Amino acid sequence: MYFSKKIAVTGGCGFLGVHLCKKLLSMGNEVICIDNCYSSQKRNIYHLLENPRFEFLRHDITFPLYIEVDEIYNLACPASPVHYQRDPVQTIKTCIHGTINMLGLAKRIKAKILQASTSEVYGDPEVHPQPEGYWGRVNPIGIRSCYDEGKRCAETLFFDYHRQHDLDIKIARIFNTYGPMMHPNDGRVVSNFIIQALGNKNITIYGDGNQTRSFCYVDDLIDGLIKLMDSPDAITGPVNLGNPDEITIMELAQKIIKLSGSQSCIEKQPIPLDDPLKRKPDIQLAEKILSWQPSTSLDHGLEQTLLFFKKANDIQIDHSLS
Ligand SMILES: NC(=O)c1ccc[n+]([C@@H]2O[C@H](COP(=O)([O-])OP(=O)(O)OC[C@H]3O[C@@H](n4cnc5c(N)ncnc54)[C@H](O)[C@@H]3O)[C@@H](O)[C@H]2O)c1
Repeated sequence: MYFSKKIAVTGGCGFLGVHLCKKLLSMGNEVICIDNCYSSQKRNIYHLLENPRFEFLRHDITFPLYIEVDEIYNLACPASPVHYQRDPVQTIKTCIHGTINMLGLAKRIKAKILQASTSEVYGDPEVHPQPEGYWGRVNPIGIRSCYDEGKRCAETLFFDYHRQHDLDIKIARIFNTYGPMMHPNDGRVVSNFIIQALGNKNITIYGDGNQTRSFCYVDDLIDGLIKLMDSPDAITGPVNLGNPDEITIMELAQKIIKLSGSQSCIEKQPIPLDDPLKRKPDIQLAEKILSWQPSTSLDHGLEQTLLFFKKANDIQIDHSLS
């Protein structure tokens, strides 16, 4: 039997946040979406605003917040390099001040709190695939550090609140996730390739294209987050959530060209600084303690994402004609 809860989702207007709010509402919960729309738009949640169990609060989590909820999913943080490098000081403030504020709130109201951490805590890893016990290899002073080190520090804060204040915490280390509602211009590889393919423009690959990534479809990831939040108190994480099927960036580009029937060619450009060469989650822990594993094939997930971007494209063309 499922009892409905009052749940706060910080970053609820973002790519993962919208899917999470929607899923939590569909389960009968009340959802408060907290977002300052730094890397998203309010229109992402227009379709949820009519639901009487949904509420939107425009708020920057680097400032304290006083609400009453049973659970907090802390997703607020720009996730793509384009967005988190635009104002790196604000990024690290969100990771640290924002996390302290959300942990303080959870402590005051005795709520359970889940942190959306990231595979970036592993940096450019020497261990492959990356298990949760691996401490990572992160450059502390590079252009990605505001995000990578910010997220590492957020994990530390979660564990210190847990040890010092007995707070009920959960940490998910999320690996590359894709799907409908991705931001079209935030430079993430799947959305970049799809937009270039749909416009029959050259697909830009950084480096030789042999670097690998593994992509998790958004529905699978959201199921994993909810399973982690609903797991017994003794399970704190960190737990890797991602899809272990590895693919080279070159193979991904070729797959997207094929699925979209595009005329695009591939163009190579120099690889950016600190771009990891390999990224693949070890998800044995999630399989064991959450009975979770992704079930959506890359082809199916890409087809759904292509459909979303095609529709968004058509709407834009419609608007430009009117
Ligand atoms: N999408 C992925 O592949 C991925 C991978 C690893 C980790 N994550 C983590 O998951 C979370 C969500 O990622 P996403 O892909 O939805 O990113 P996103 O950028 O689409 O969404 C983040 C949301 O947080 C909001 N936000 C940023 N700073 C804020 C602040 N100070 N106060 C209130 N709101 C703020 C943004 O406006 C945005 O709506 C992030 O914490 C990210 O680090 C995502």
